[in-house]
Amino acid sequence: MQELTPETITQAVLDQMATTPDPRLKEIMASAVKHLHAFAKDVNLTPAEWIKGITFMTQVGKICTPARQEFILLSDTLGLSALVNGLHDETAMEEGTHTSLLGPFYREASPPMAPGTQIAKNAEPDTEIALYGYVTDVNGKPLAGATVSLWQTSASGLYDIQEDPNAIDYRGVFTTDAKGLFVLRTVKPLGYSIPMDGPVGAMVKAQRRHGMRPAHIHFLVGAPGYRELVTALYLRDDPHLADDVVFGSSGDLAVDIKKDPECPLPGLPSIRFDMRLSRETAADRAGGRVGADPSAILKQPA
Ligand code: BEZ
Ligand code: FE
Repeated sequence: MQELTPETITQAVLDQMATTPDPRLKEIMASAVKHLHAFAKDVNLTPAEWIKGITFMTQVGKICTPARQEFILLSDTLGLSALVNGLHDETAMEEGTHTSLLGPFYREASPPMAPGTQIAKNAEPDTEIALYGYVTDVNGKPLAGATVSLWQTSASGLYDIQEDPNAIDYRGVFTTDAKGLFVLRTVKPLGYSIPMDGPVGAMVKAQRRHGMRPAHIHFLVGAPGYRELVTALYLRDDPHLADDVVFGSSGDLAVDIKKDPECPLPGLPSIRFDMRLSRETAADRAGGRVGADPSAILKQPA
């Protein structure tokens, strides 16, 4: 038998896993082992550091509930979620509006609303803004009947379900008209901190990072025959636009709140956010959604 050393162990593991019948699982696991071993060698990982890492991952698992997915938060804060989104965008048939994080606050149970509806139940008149945009294909052809689901924080920086798990506020579902237009009233969202009271928060603090997301509004847009789009708009004047703790913000998704004579709701400061959808492929239809509902993960069989 060959002697196992730091130089030979990686190949020994790969040889043992070579029996994996599923070719994609085989490819992913082989690459993961190679990178994991290279990482341990790169930093000369000590037994004390290895157990610290195991303890950290155990804490991440322990804090997960149907409403809180600390592993996704870890993936977000390490830039892995944003990277996976970017790779997903690169597989689109056409280059449409780029993906951004779904985040943990999306809910299927969002109410359908008529054009122009105010989505914030208690919006003060002087805080109201209009939000509109056109949903088109990548060539600018309007997509009528597209479903535009959106959700955001209140002006205090909290999502409805953070204050009350059963509340529905600051969210709604709109349908585009013949010109691909959606339009609504809302309030200016506020930037907020990711949950900092768990192991991921401890990691972020140890790295002297601020933990903030820039102010944004999430969108999930669907139209028959087109790839589902999960994205978000970001307020350009937010101080954390360039250093989002979860790497979701990007310049191409930044917008301004301004007086806009073209806004269908005149008299209100407004945001315009147009979205271009790629046509859908068979692989898109079979593939999963960008991001996940945390409660669905714990329902998966072991
Ligand atoms: C959010 O945008 O809602 C979000 C995304 C990632 C982590 C935490 C919150
Ligand atoms: Fe968010």
